[in-house]
Amino acid sequence: MRVSVTDDPATTTTSRTGGPPAPADPLRTASFAELRSLFAMEPDAVHLNTGTIGVMPYEVLDVNDRVTREWNGGLRNVYPPGMYPEHRAAIGRAFGVDQDEMVICHNATEGVARVINGLDLHEGDEVVTTSHECYSVLSNFNLLRNRHRITLTVLTPPVGPDVTAEEIVDLFARAITPRTKVLAFAAVTLFTGTRMPVRQLCDLAQRHGLTTVVDGALLPGLFDTDLRALGPDFVTCSGSKFQCGPLGTGLLYVRNKVHPEHNPLPLPTFWPVISTWYPMMGAPPPRTTTRVESYNMGDYLQSAGSASIARGAALAKACELWDRIGRDRIERHAVALGDHTRARIAERFGVESLYSPLTDGRLTAPVVAFNPFPDPSDGWNITKFARLVDELENRHRIWTRWTEFDIAGSPHQHYAARICTHLYNTADEVDQAVDAIADLVRELS
Ligand SMILES: Cc1ncc(COP(=O)(O)O)c(C=O)c1O
Repeated sequence: MRVSVTDDPATTTTSRTGGPPAPADPLRTASFAELRSLFAMEPDAVHLNTGTIGVMPYEVLDVNDRVTREWNGGLRNVYPPGMYPEHRAAIGRAFGVDQDEMVICHNATEGVARVINGLDLHEGDEVVTTSHECYSVLSNFNLLRNRHRITLTVLTPPVGPDVTAEEIVDLFARAITPRTKVLAFAAVTLFTGTRMPVRQLCDLAQRHGLTTVVDGALLPGLFDTDLRALGPDFVTCSGSKFQCGPLGTGLLYVRNKVHPEHNPLPLPTFWPVISTWYPMMGAPPPRTTTRVESYNMGDYLQSAGSASIARGAALAKACELWDRIGRDRIERHAVALGDHTRARIAERFGVESLYSPLTDGRLTAPVVAFNPFPDPSDGWNITKFARLVDELENRHRIWTRWTEFDIAGSPHQHYAARICTHLYNTADEVDQAVDAIADLVRELS
């Protein structure tokens, strides 16, 4: 089976992210082959590891460099621009939220650490999460377990081509007890590339009065997302992966008002750790119960000493480019290439080689994890996966990565090769990678 991936110029003229872009903007109608030239790609390399780090556009590199120089050793007040009010407003608009709910932080790890350590959790409170979360999530919840004696329930989600959204939601539903206070899960999992059913899980949480923490590291720049409409309380994102901003940038969404159609629950008590804006005496005003904020929670979190003004500006530039190209268009291209990748892998290594979902289209993302080795026991042979990824890079300059994760009922830690596709990739690159993997698998088997 082959999925055709067209070099599709814009097929729509409107975007969820703020109405139609200027009709004259050439980026909106440029082909993906033309758009590729915007990026500082390594020549002769095939970059299929955007889930770890994206490629910055030249313009983003330029902004980073120019703004660094502008603020180097100057005598101007560095604190106001480090609050990024305009950048937060523009980026917030692209993700359907307001400036008071948006923070530019240093990476998804910092964002999630600030959220988890800011939750109002006490001894005996329970958090339900999964073993497929990033180390940044599991490590911070374990810190709370050790520090505050919370209970952590870690589920192992089902994997493979036939997994359904309902199975995942049921797994969470069965784990909720009267002590549960928080559900925490990734928007797209790092290890198996499962696009979690975020809206359904938020609905479940809302029915039980629970707070939701979503690790959205792989969300921005990939999926054209309205964060508020997804219904969570917190979403923490990386700026340097699919959004292609500089390393050391992230986004943090904190629900700061009540839009009942998306999440009718009262705002959770939240302690904004790392802040120079949280009052030094007394307490902030009560949190709002309406659509109008009672204070700017984004400012509380953003104001945290001297900031990387240049990196914030460069991330804002990357977001602006995405808005001009069309986030809907970028999503369609990356997703079509992800479908192409799954089809080629299924054709070459068998459908059962996929750890990523296949049949339930609600769960698929262009982050594809698989075991290409014919002997199933190679699935827990770290040496073979490490060799495979190293040789792809050394011999072919094809950049992928391997991942490790639990599988329910298996005594082993499993390994996968992972391919991510993005707006600068082509179907030919995927085919080249799959051919090279097939050759290496023969050699290593
Ligand atoms: C799902 C997920 N969460 C969190 C992280 C951590 O991201 P960052 O490097 O921005 O801290 C990653 C990194 O790969 C990830 O894939």
